[in-house]
Amino acid sequence: MNFRSAKRAQEGILITKSPLCDLAAMVRSRMPLIAVESNEEPQIVHLLREIGKQLQLKAYRWTVTEGLQAFDPLDQPQESVLKSQEVLSYIKTSASRSLFVLLDFHPYLTDNVHTRFLKDIALTYAKHRSTVVLVGGVLPIPEELRSFTAYFRLPLPTPQELRGIVYDVAGDWGAQHGHSSVRTTNKALDLLVRNLAGVTATDARRLALKAINDNGVISESELPGVMRAKYELLGRDSPLTFEYETAQFAEIGGMQRLRNWLNVRKSFFREGAPDQLDPPRGMLLLGVQGCGKSLAAKAAAGIFGVPLLRLDFGVLYSKYYGETERNLRKTLETTEVMAPCVLWLDEIEKGLVVGDDDDGLSRRVLGTLLTWMSERKEPVFIVATANDIMRLPPEIVRKGRFDEIFFVDLPALQNRRDIVVIHLHKRCLAPSRFDADALANATDGFSGSEIEQAIVSAMYAAHDQRRAVSQADLLAEIQQTRPLSVTMAEKVDELREWAAGRTVPCD
Ligand SMILES: Nc1ncnc2c1ncn2[C@@H]1O[C@H](COP(=O)(O)OP(=O)(O)OP(=O)(O)O)[C@@H](O)[C@H]1O
Ligand SMILES: [Mg+2]
Repeated sequence: MNFRSAKRAQEGILITKSPLCDLAAMVRSRMPLIAVESNEEPQIVHLLREIGKQLQLKAYRWTVTEGLQAFDPLDQPQESVLKSQEVLSYIKTSASRSLFVLLDFHPYLTDNVHTRFLKDIALTYAKHRSTVVLVGGVLPIPEELRSFTAYFRLPLPTPQELRGIVYDVAGDWGAQHGHSSVRTTNKALDLLVRNLAGVTATDARRLALKAINDNGVISESELPGVMRAKYELLGRDSPLTFEYETAQFAEIGGMQRLRNWLNVRKSFFREGAPDQLDPPRGMLLLGVQGCGKSLAAKAAAGIFGVPLLRLDFGVLYSKYYGETERNLRKTLETTEVMAPCVLWLDEIEKGLVVGDDDDGLSRRVLGTLLTWMSERKEPVFIVATANDIMRLPPEIVRKGRFDEIFFVDLPALQNRRDIVVIHLHKRCLAPSRFDADALANATDGFSGSEIEQAIVSAMYAAHDQRRAVSQADLLAEIQQTRPLSVTMAEKVDELREWAAGRTVPCD
C-alpha cells in the first residue's frame, strides 16, 4: 500500500471542523479565560492560530523559554516580553483584540500575583477584548478565576482521523527508511485503526509506530503488543490488570459445550460483525472450586483473540476508599476503550457480597456494575466466576444479565482422563508410560486442580528418592488425597441442586 499518496488524500482531515468550531465559539463568547487541559499542544496551537486568522485577531503564543511570539511577524511586540508577569502586564495594557496562548503556565497559577493579574485581565475584558488561553497537561485553575474561565476539551480522534494518523506515521516511516511504503493488508490496517480507538492523537501516533516496529510491516501479529501498550497508557492506575497469559482450550479437559458456545461467538470478535448483530454480553461460570473456571475465563480471551482484563475488587475497595463507585465507572469506561476485550470478574461473590456493615457501599457498587452492564455499547465480553451461589446477590443471576450461566461440575470419567493426560504432558511425562484410564478411575470426585496437585506431589516424592515418577507413585498420592467433594460434600450437593434447572452444564 502506498502510504505517501494515501497520506495526501487524507491531508486536511487531521483536524476536523468540530473542535475548530467549538473552540472558535468559545473565543467569540467573550469568556476572558479559556483553559485547555491537554497534552496535544501542537494540535491546540494549530487550532488557535487558525481561529486567530478566522476571527481576525492578533494571535500570540508565550512560553517560558521564548517569551511572547506573534504568529504573524507583523504583530510582534516592539520590545521583548519574556517573563510570566511581563506577559500578563502586556495583555492587560495592550488594548487590542488579541488572542494570547500561554503554554505551560500551570506553575504560576498557584501564585497570588499571577492570579490577581489574570483576574484583572478578566475584569477589564470589555476594554481590551483579548482572550487568554491557558494550555497544559494539568491546569489547577484557582477558585477566584473559575467564574471567568471556560474549559475546552479536545475530542478524541474519530476512526477516520485515526486512519489518517496511521497513514501519516506509515508515510513518514517509509520516507525515513528509504522505502516507498510500509507493507500491510487491509484487514491488519482495519484492526489497527479499530484498536487505536479511545486514545489521543499523540498516543495513537506512538502506538501506530510501535505497530510498524522495525520491520516496516503492519501485521495482525503485532496487534497484541499494541493492545498491551494501550493498556499501559490507560489502565496502569486502575484496578484492572492485563492478563498476559491467556489459555488455549487444548489445555483444558472437558467443557465441550462451553467450547462450542464460545466458538460460535468467535467470528464476532475476530472478524467483526454487521451492525444489527448485538455484541455477545458475557457468561457467568458457577461451580465447584478448582474445576477450571479461571482457566475457562482465560481461554475465552484466547479463543476470541482479544485482551483479557481482570478487575480486582480488592484493589477497587482498598485503593479507592471513599470514591469506589466513581473509580469503578472510570474503570469500566477504560474497558470500553480497550474493546473488543474480555473483562474478567473473578470470584464475583467476594466483590459484590452485600453486607449490612459497609453503609450500602457494595450495593452501590453492584448498582454501578449492573447499570453499566445494561448500557454498555462496546463489545466488552464479561466472564464472571463464582463458587458460592448463596452469597451472590440475586440481581446478578437474573435472566438476561448474561447470555448464559454455565455450571462447572466435577469432571466425569472421560474428562478426568483428559485432565490427567494434559497435566502429565505439561510436565514432560510421556502419558504412554502411565495407565491414564486407571488414574481417571481412581480420581472419582476429584476436581481438575486436585488431579493436578496429585501429579505434582507424586513428582516431588519421586524426585526426593532420585527416581522417575511411576504409576504407583501417582496412585499412592491419589489415595492419600481427600477431595473437596468428600470433605465438603454437603456444600457441593447444595450447589449442584441450585444449578440444576437454573444453569447450563458446560459439558
Ligand atoms: N478442566 C481442567 N482441565 C485442565 N486443568 C484443570 C481443569 N480444571 C482445573 N485444572 C487445573 O487446576 C488449576 C486450578 O483451576 P482454576 O483456577 O481454573 O479453577 P477454579 O474453578 O477457578 O477454582 P477456584 O474456584 O478455586 O477459583 C488450573 O490452573 C489447572 O491447572
Ligand atoms: Mg478461580
